[in-house]
Amino acid sequence: MRAFVLSRYGGPEHTALTEMPRPSPGVGELLVGVHAAGLNPVDFKTRAGALKIIRNYPLPIVMGNELSGVVEAIGPGVTRFAKGDRVFARVDKDILGAFAEYAVVNEDHAARMPVSLDFPTAAAVPLAALTALQALRDELHLSAGQRVFIPGGAGGVGTFAIQIAKHLGAYVATTASLRGEALVKRLGADVVIDYTRERFEDKLSDYDCAFDLLGGETLARLWSVLKPGGHVVSIAGIPEPLTARKDLGRGIGLAALFWVASLTTRLRAARHGLTYRYLFMHPSGADLAYLASLIDAKKLEVVIDRVFPFAEAKEAMAYLETGRAKGKVVLSLS
Ligand SMILES: NC(=O)c1ccc[n+]([C@@H]2O[C@H](COP(=O)([O-])OP(=O)(O)OC[C@H]3O[C@@H](n4cnc5c(N)ncnc54)[C@H](OP(=O)(O)O)[C@@H]3O)[C@@H](O)[C@H]2O)c1
Repeated sequence: MRAFVLSRYGGPEHTALTEMPRPSPGVGELLVGVHAAGLNPVDFKTRAGALKIIRNYPLPIVMGNELSGVVEAIGPGVTRFAKGDRVFARVDKDILGAFAEYAVVNEDHAARMPVSLDFPTAAAVPLAALTALQALRDELHLSAGQRVFIPGGAGGVGTFAIQIAKHLGAYVATTASLRGEALVKRLGADVVIDYTRERFEDKLSDYDCAFDLLGGETLARLWSVLKPGGHVVSIAGIPEPLTARKDLGRGIGLAALFWVASLTTRLRAARHGLTYRYLFMHPSGADLAYLASLIDAKKLEVVIDRVFPFAEAKEAMAYLETGRAKGKVVLSLS
């Protein structure tokens, strides 16, 4: 089968479309004929070796974290899916493999595709929408009437996060440049701050919580926006001890490393009477089925920036890496 393969950590020159053996489904797994695959920043971070401390993949490896397609075969013990089902999934983080004509997916990580979506649009959903749902619902426990600040609302995660926060009944402030302002307003953002012209901390105060999609100096500046007792969940800042234990299932060694790395961030949070949590999302077929129901009920829109043919996987990755995508970038294999 044709697959987009990483042969060495580093730059794009270590990736290529290559012939690889077709995988076969093990116990509880589906073999999916991939029709489309979504791209995410984790793809180029993995390629660069930036995540090696968490996952050091044996190379070569077929890249890709999310897909849509058709079940071609099922492994022993599969009960919820059958050959011919249209599915979408965030694939197993330890295996990857979505950028290929065929991929193996654990049945617990898959759900039936929204009936209202085509394959490229469905492939854009799993990783980013699951991240937004798990951060807002499970970590921030966002509820109706609360005020949430979501810096960086125009990208893959942000376009889902704004809509899910509105669906939960929250009041939403976000940041975007003029390029993304109309988009985030259409998705329901109540307040939009042009981060190229204004400092959000001069405009916002008394928010209940923040979902940080940017890390860096945005995270360093956002504490004063929240009221004491508030919570910050980041997916782009510094991992902390709970990240190691709860999200990665790792022991004291990595937790201690993250304790040291996140100390300044946690102290800044504590000084403002806030809590800080770094979240790694997890694959979940049950959460995906819920998101599919929102999509089919027209309560959640999937925003696609560009669809590239599979042959242009490298160009698609370079495009996402510019950091300017509005919504999601997708590869089409069909
Ligand atoms: N921990 C996890 O489980 C997890 C899961 C998913 C994603 N992530 C991480 O979360 C981050 C966001 O992912 P994504 O898929 O949303 O990325 P993305 O789609 O590449 O985000 C691009 C968007 O970010 C906006 N942006 C860039 N700099 C900004 C700034 N200073 N202020 C406001 N907006 C800014 C851009 O808007 P402009 O063009 O207007 O600048 C663009 O629309 C990445 O670092 C990713 O690795 C982590």
